[in-house]
Formats: sequence, C-alpha cells, structure tokens
Amino acid sequence: MRINVDQQKHLDFLRVTEAAALASSRWVGKGQRDAADQAACEAMRAELGAMHMNATIVIGEGERDEAPMLYIGETMGLGDGPEVQIAVDPLEGTNLCANGTPNAISVLAACVEGEGYLMHAPDCYMEKLVVGPECAGVVDITVPPRINVRLMAKALGKDVDECIIGVLDRPRHEDLIRELREAGCRVHLVPDGDLSVAIAALDPDSGVDGLMGIGGAPEGVITAAAVLCTGGEMQARLKFTIDGQRERAEKMVDGDLDRVFTTSDLARGNVIFAATGITSGDLLKGVRFRHGCAYTESIVMRSESGLIRRIETTFRLSPTSPAERRKLSN
Ligand code: FBP
Repeated sequence: MRINVDQQKHLDFLRVTEAAALASSRWVGKGQRDAADQAACEAMRAELGAMHMNATIVIGEGERDEAPMLYIGETMGLGDGPEVQIAVDPLEGTNLCANGTPNAISVLAACVEGEGYLMHAPDCYMEKLVVGPECAGVVDITVPPRINVRLMAKALGKDVDECIIGVLDRPRHEDLIRELREAGCRVHLVPDGDLSVAIAALDPDSGVDGLMGIGGAPEGVITAAAVLCTGGEMQARLKFTIDGQRERAEKMVDGDLDRVFTTSDLARGNVIFAATGITSGDLLKGVRFRHGCAYTESIVMRSESGLIRRIETTFRLSPTSPAERRKLSN
C-alpha cells in the first residue's frame, strides 16, 4: 500500500481501522475480551506494517514489556516513506465488544513528524471536558459542571434540560452525575467507551452535547485529534492514581503536569483521525454481516482541510453472490 504525503493518505488509514473492526467483530458478544482485542491488534498491525511509511507508535497497547504488539515505541511500516507518529486503540471498549453492547470502535490518530503533534500520553487517567464547535470558547473545566451546562445551553440555543452530557458510569462520577441532574441536565451514562461518546459530542446530529468526567489519558489524546479536526474544544487535566505514574509522566510531558491541557496541548497541526464502528453506538454503526458481505461505517477526518467523511464500505467476504449461493445450494 502506497502512503502519499497528500490529501489521500487519510484514506489509507481508514483501511487500518476497517481491518481491525472486521477482525474483532467476529468476537462481538462472545464474552472473550482478550480474543477480541488480539484479533483487532493483529489486523491493525498487519495493515500498518504494509504501508509505505516509517512510523512509530506513540500511544498504543502499553509499554514494550506489557504488550506484545502495537506497544509504545514499536516501529511500523515498510520504512520507505514519511516519518509518521501514530496513536492507536485497535479495540476501544473491549468489554463493549465482548458483551455486544454499543460504542466499541477501532480508532487511530496519526501525523507526519514536523507537520503535526500528538502528545505522548502517560497511561494514567484524564479529566475531560469535550464540546462541539458551537460551544467552543464558552466552557471552562475549572468551574463547576452546573455552570458549564448553563453556558452550553445558551450557546446551543436550548434549555439546560434539553442538553445531554455523556458520562462514564463509574463510582468516581457520583458527584458529577448528581450535580448535572440537579442542574436539570440529562445524563447519558455509558458503561465504557468515553472516546466514542466524546467524538459523538462533536457532531451536532448525534444528540450528545458534551462529554464530562474522568477516563483514560491515551483515549484523551486520540479524542483531541478529532476535536482538532472538527473545531470543537477539549480541556483536560491529568489524574494520577497509582504510585510512579506522576514520575513517568514527568519524563513524557513538558511543563506543569497539573495545568489545564487544551486541545492544542494534546494534538495540533496536521493530524488525521480514523474510526470504524464495531458495535453500533452514538458515533457509528457497527459491523453487520449479510449474504456473504460485511458492512462497516467509518469516520475519517483531517485537521488541515477540516474535511469530515463518513464512509460506508461493503466487503464481499464470499466470492459468490447471494443468487449464486442459492443456486449452488439447490
Ligand atoms: P478499554 O477498551 O481499554 O477497555 O477502555 C475502555 C474505557 O472505558 C475507555 O473508553 C475509558 O477512557 C477507560 O476505559 C476508562 O477506564 P476505567 O474503566 O478504568 O474507568
């Protein structure tokens, strides 16, 4: 596969998330999260490995000693193209896939070195506030959520009780959920997958107006790439919960670790974002099978042009058409 340093290269990355989504979709609802994750990783790695680029994984499945593939620092590609940095989550929402519940996606963000930037996020938590373009510039993560929803409602031209905020269903969000509900806001609770919900919040047609709460920092950087492409806004704060995380983050992140990180601290310049649905959810339809074909829905965005493409792809899995197969089985 040829990767060109032009407008077409984001479509090469689309094939990568499509391949990972197709592979893991075989494990949807089977209750085997590790097998689903492994299938997504293997497919993604094979596609990335066949691209004409000299890429490095900056956000991946973990450190080299804990992840057999797509680990941070692993080099990808045939080594004969541009220097590319890639942030991947081959299967975002492993439990969602294993349980057959909404919002499992395969996702990546990428940039050519020197043209774009993706923060090398430490494996810790991140408090996130994500809003779409209409609310960009009006929210502030340092003020109480009830104030942010009031500001958002005004910018969106609706009442607070018409606003929907996505929040991960976790005990740590008890106070946040109570405060949002007391303010009159509707809370869209999800069991996993804050990345999908955050990207949905960037789309005015999704019904989700924003994302609040604490999720993974690596997922946060990939989210920021999509925010940059759409003109929304993200504000974030790193949260350290395990001994040694802060020390490790100090080696990876410049400046004050306790500051508010803006979209451009997390992702800037010319970045590409691609995601393909595995189970249908707030952002994308999942992989569907019928008559020897698989159908996927993906979203691909480029910050330089601001282009957002939704792409439906049909994969013909069997060489025979439905009519031919009916004939053969007669
Ligand atoms: P996985 O795909 O690694 O299971 O992550 C799913 C996810 O829900 C993310 O969307 C979210 O950012 C993070 O996990 C939240 O972490 P935790 O489950 O520890 O609250």
